[in-house]
Amino acid sequence: MSEPVVLGIESTCDETAAALVRGRTLLSNVVASSMQEHARYGGVIPEIASRAHAEAFVPCVSKALADANMTLRDVDAIAVSAGPGLAGCLAVGVSGAKALAWASGKPLYGINHVIGHIAVTQLQFGPVHENTMALIVSGGHTSLLHVTDIARTIDVVGTTLDDAAGECFDKVARLLGFPYPGGPHIDRHAQHGNPQAIKVPQGLTQGQAGAKHPYDFSFSGVKTAVARWVEGQQALGREIPTDDVCASLADSVATVLAKKTMRGCRQYDSDTLIVGGGFSANSQLRAKLLEYGRSNGVDVRIPEIRLCTDNGAMVAVLGASLVEAGVAPSDPDFSIDSAMP
Ligand code: KG4
Ligand code: ZN
Repeated sequence: MSEPVVLGIESTCDETAAALVRGRTLLSNVVASSMQEHARYGGVIPEIASRAHAEAFVPCVSKALADANMTLRDVDAIAVSAGPGLAGCLAVGVSGAKALAWASGKPLYGINHVIGHIAVTQLQFGPVHENTMALIVSGGHTSLLHVTDIARTIDVVGTTLDDAAGECFDKVARLLGFPYPGGPHIDRHAQHGNPQAIKVPQGLTQGQAGAKHPYDFSFSGVKTAVARWVEGQQALGREIPTDDVCASLADSVATVLAKKTMRGCRQYDSDTLIVGGGFSANSQLRAKLLEYGRSNGVDVRIPEIRLCTDNGAMVAVLGASLVEAGVAPSDPDFSIDSAMP
């Protein structure tokens, strides 16, 4: 087959998205977000997100096809995120994708959303070659992975033992009075602060040789340390130096992520690092990874921000990689897996 045309559908959290690719070329990319509806609750409300997916599903898919000047007949396969994510949200996307596949007779692939974050870098940087490390960080996941074959073999090297990096930022942001999602606010304020102003721990696992979790991450202690410090200052009636708090938090999280990731690259003798997930929009992390990558001889591939956050292109490109690798489509009765590893 020439390069497969794949429709990708994404609905794991608060973005309903659809995109078309031909192999590793993006043909269209449509994203509808229900973020605004969740902001006043301080976090994503699953029922609101599910309803928004049900409303946005058909318009998103129709627009993605129209933008690419195509109909379902032109598509070789359909791919949809089957997990991990919010169960009710996944159910809308997977049910919709199954209906499209059934009506059109096209093969359907239920894919792992986190691997989609890795696959999407192919749009910007070309094929993922074997022996690549990947750091995927968002509000829901922090994973260090080793890729042997994007279509078949990916191993988990490290994961977060508690809060994901974005979740930690969002929780501290709330304490500082920023609206949800607070990560981008912390990023902006951190750019004006002193990262050494407040001593923030780098988590219980600092990646020392012999440590119990050399590649796992823990950000809940970081969050608690910052919260205690802020509450202590408030109790003394002192003004909170927001920029310094943000800079110290961002530096601590970016440093531990970059250090452990580079250690992982050395351990696996890998000279390529892929970075993805919504948190990879963070300027402090991007700068730290690029700096460490230069000094460790690692080619750091961080895609443009619209490809880092959740989108349909990541699902479509992974689908195309599976078709090209000759992987069989999912069984017609495949189910969502909200805790997919
Ligand atoms: O991947 P994503 O769009 O959604 C999922 O969580 O799956 O990631 C959103 C997360 C939120 O926690 C948000 O605060 C964080 O990524 N984020 C950032 C930045 N942009 C988004 N955190 C820090 N700095 C940023 N610039
Ligand atoms: Zn994601």
